[in-house]
Amino acid sequence: MLEKCDGEPDRPTLIICTNCKGSSTAGEAGAPLAGTRLADVTQALDGCDDVAIIRVRCLANCSRGPSVAMRHAGAWSYIFGGIDPDGDAGSLIEGARLLAGAPDGLMPWRGRPDCLKRGLIARIPPLDFTGDPA
Ligand code: FES
Repeated sequence: MLEKCDGEPDRPTLIICTNCKGSSTAGEAGAPLAGTRLADVTQALDGCDDVAIIRVRCLANCSRGPSVAMRHAGAWSYIFGGIDPDGDAGSLIEGARLLAGAPDGLMPWRGRPDCLKRGLIARIPPLDFTGDPA
């Protein structure tokens, strides 16, 4: 039986797919998969305790990985693809902080790291969203 997960209401969360192969050589000849490397690098960053990081085996964005989901209580959730394990970890943290600080629950475009612009796959409304006005 699944238990209800309340998440972490005080911290934005990055959900990183560890099975993504990406387009790099990661995953070849015993090297870690690109997604695993991305999760490792992001979790190893210093001074990021304000952002929760969890791992998942697949986000169903396999052909456009490495893939990351981002969520925060009361905010929209985002799916990103094409994230560079060797260059974008800090941008993920930056984006999570932007999302957590957004008064309308939408990650602002201005100031958003480039990888979170070009890599945007989709956004999903928060649970209490009832629709845009007609
Ligand atoms: S393996 Fe990463 S999204 Fe499917």
